Amino acid sequence: MPKTVLVSGGAGFIGSHVTVELSQAGYDVVIADNMSNCDETNYEGVCRILGRKLPLVKMDFCDSAAVGRLFADYHIDAVIHFAAFKAVGESVSEPLKYYRNNLESFLNIVEEAKRQGGCNILFSSSATVYGVAEKLPVTEQTPRQPATSPYGNTKQICEDVLRDSVHAYKGVRGIALRYFNPIGAHPSALIGELPRGVPNNLVPFITQTAIGKRECLSVFGNDYDTPDGTCLRDYIDIVDLAKAHVCAVSRMLDGRMKEDYEIFNIGTGRPVSVLELINSFEKVNGLKLNWKFAPRRAGDVPAIWADTSLANSELGWKAERSVDETLAAAWAWEKHIAGRN
Ligand code: WQD
Repeated sequence: MPKTVLVSGGAGFIGSHVTVELSQAGYDVVIADNMSNCDETNYEGVCRILGRKLPLVKMDFCDSAAVGRLFADYHIDAVIHFAAFKAVGESVSEPLKYYRNNLESFLNIVEEAKRQGGCNILFSSSATVYGVAEKLPVTEQTPRQPATSPYGNTKQICEDVLRDSVHAYKGVRGIALRYFNPIGAHPSALIGELPRGVPNNLVPFITQTAIGKRECLSVFGNDYDTPDGTCLRDYIDIVDLAKAHVCAVSRMLDGRMKEDYEIFNIGTGRPVSVLELINSFEKVNGLKLNWKFAPRRAGDVPAIWADTSLANSELGWKAERSVDETLAAAWAWEKHIAGRN
């Protein structure tokens, strides 16, 4: 009997890629999403890639009764929780929206896991929990820094909720995956990132500038203490990232966890500057991007990248795709979207 994995936020950017990889690995997937920050594009793309329809339950995880019904309707062996708001800037101007949504939805899932007498929970956390780290690259032992945004704080609080709950409630187990910067799209170009309005993140801004939706990319800051003066990040391919979830879910379901709560960094281990990323994008896709230097963006850390040895050895997972391949996929996706409109 295949095991069933519930993917909250499964119609979104990361959730849709994870759904594809889980399904292709033989898991039954139930997608649940309130569609508040996406349309059905990625859901339809997932079904096309897989050649079959997956269950899509339209519901809000802040509705505890709806969460209860979901667990009554399906025998759920593991939950991967993506359903959350994710705009860092908006979280500063609307903190209550973020605390209410991101905490309540996760509390409802953990509560239901407890009520069920146990469940495996995978929480999508973020490198943002490390803040300005004292030493680079960061390992899972690197101390977390006080969050610089309500968004980042919800990631820290949810990690703590999971840690404390696995210790208190029998049968509840958890893994937090701390993502670095997920970018790219599925090689089929049928699923990808669909930001609403002006993108906050670098790669969607690059692809939208290249296609002519945006006039010019602003590179935020050229006077950082880094080799070329621009920030360093660890850009992780979305399909590689999705595969890490399959490894983590199978570790939980096959009883291979060493502790009931585990944390893994999910990145490439390679720092890449903003200018290097732009150069790669131009080279691999054979085009010139319109960009200019602009002042630093408030809240940006100068540099962060992952030590991924723990994920490599314990999850048996490693990032495989090059930045060039990933940026080619991101561009193919942008063209796919433009051709559709
Ligand atoms: C990357 C680099 C910018 C846009 C954020 C969240 C994090 C996670 C991922 C997700 C930085 C520079 C960007 C632009 C630029 N959250 N940049 N011009 O800030 O590392 O991480 O997204 O849900 O929690 O904090 O990613 O893609 O915004 O920026 O120069 O128009 O690109 O300054 O150096 P970031 P990013």
